[in-house]
Amino acid sequence: MEYLNQVLLHEKTRIGADLEAWQAYTGSEGLENALKNVDSIITIIKEAGLRGLGGSGFPTYRKWEAIATQKNVKEKYLICNGNEDEPGTFKDSILLEETPHQLIEGAMITALATGVNRIIFYTNPDLSDAITAMKIAIKQWEESELYFKVSDYIKQPLTFSILPTSGHYIGGEETAAIETVEGKFPFPRRKPPFPARYGVHGYPTLINNIETLCNISHILKNGVKWYQDLGIGSALGTKIYSLSGDILNPGVYELPMGISLSDLINEYGGGMLVDKKFKAVFTGGPSNTILTAKDLDVSLDFDSVAERRSSLGTGAMIVISEGTGIVKRVAEYVNFFAHSSCGQCPSCKTGTYYIAMLLNKIDTGQGRCSDLDALINLCEILPNSGRCALINGAVKVLESSLYHFMPEYEQSLNG
Ligand SMILES: Cc1cc2nc3c(=O)[nH]c(=O)nc-3n(C[C@H](O)[C@H](O)[C@H](O)COP(=O)(O)O)c2cc1C
Repeated sequence: MEYLNQVLLHEKTRIGADLEAWQAYTGSEGLENALKNVDSIITIIKEAGLRGLGGSGFPTYRKWEAIATQKNVKEKYLICNGNEDEPGTFKDSILLEETPHQLIEGAMITALATGVNRIIFYTNPDLSDAITAMKIAIKQWEESELYFKVSDYIKQPLTFSILPTSGHYIGGEETAAIETVEGKFPFPRRKPPFPARYGVHGYPTLINNIETLCNISHILKNGVKWYQDLGIGSALGTKIYSLSGDILNPGVYELPMGISLSDLINEYGGGMLVDKKFKAVFTGGPSNTILTAKDLDVSLDFDSVAERRSSLGTGAMIVISEGTGIVKRVAEYVNFFAHSSCGQCPSCKTGTYYIAMLLNKIDTGQGRCSDLDALINLCEILPNSGRCALINGAVKVLESSLYHFMPEYEQSLNG
């Protein structure tokens, strides 16, 4: 277990809202180094190879550049995305609650690099311990010398605020988060314009996941090579997994990028529950794809997982055992998406319900071949038909289940 709690979840970062303890551990060297050479921050993040850990895997430096290059604007926003409402994902709440200084220091370095002056911590209102910790931590930073140095550099006071999410899964989508910040219902916006150009109140807005931001101070403190070497082989850095399902030790694990799926499940997850045999894992959460027994050797990094028609997504790993009906499980997930759809786009509003209805029909033994054909057709028609990626998530899990478990679908048909 040498890798457990290795960086972001290291016991010394899990100190709650105690700035002195955080600085005794890190010296805030990440932020100190950033202040010494602001112009190189984005290059360091680029060379480190940090990618968005909120689901997209998008190179972090590219989003930052798009904000940094916009000069002479009155305001720039950073939304630290801790919505985390997808079933099976529960890593960001721990980071918010137990490592608030890691997050705030990362956000301050981001502000230096991009010129962001308004930082919003966007988090689920249920997380009262996290909100309390963040409030105390923010106050501590606002009284620190480093805070004034950052504000001086960006030539205006850095502001921090905590904004409760609306408790909707869709509220985690970046433009829906912007609407929430503006006090509206989280209806995703059409893109373009992209948030980097036209975000909160029309100002450039950067949105990063909590885990992504938690990496920043460590990279600035320890350097590019240190970060890259945390991964195995050509995989870079670490990933936090929300591991759940039919395994002995469900929980949150920070592990090197590049460990195998088998090690994640067996070494860290403790293997399958007694008398249960591995069937599959919903990789990256329900809005993603499935890996099966033949994929247990896959290296868990962005590229290797993509080669298996899957994606790391948020790092949620929901393990299921033989005996779990795939049609029933996918129906439950798509039902969640149907209820989460904001209803703006007809294809998403009706498409998700239609898929859920067909799956339910098949699962309850009333499905016909034509229903299966309809599901296959929907996988072709629906992708990219909505203004956000919610519909894509519903289709991905359906399509992946059809790819891996077609015989199970066929056996459930009734004519
Ligand atoms: C329906 C939906 C829900 C999402 N929920 C979240 C979320 O809870 N947290 C998050 O960080 N990203 C979420 N995302 C992805 C964000 O739109 C965005 O890509 C992410 O916050 C960017 O951060 P990153 O580049 O650091 O990964 C969601 C996307 C969609 C389509």
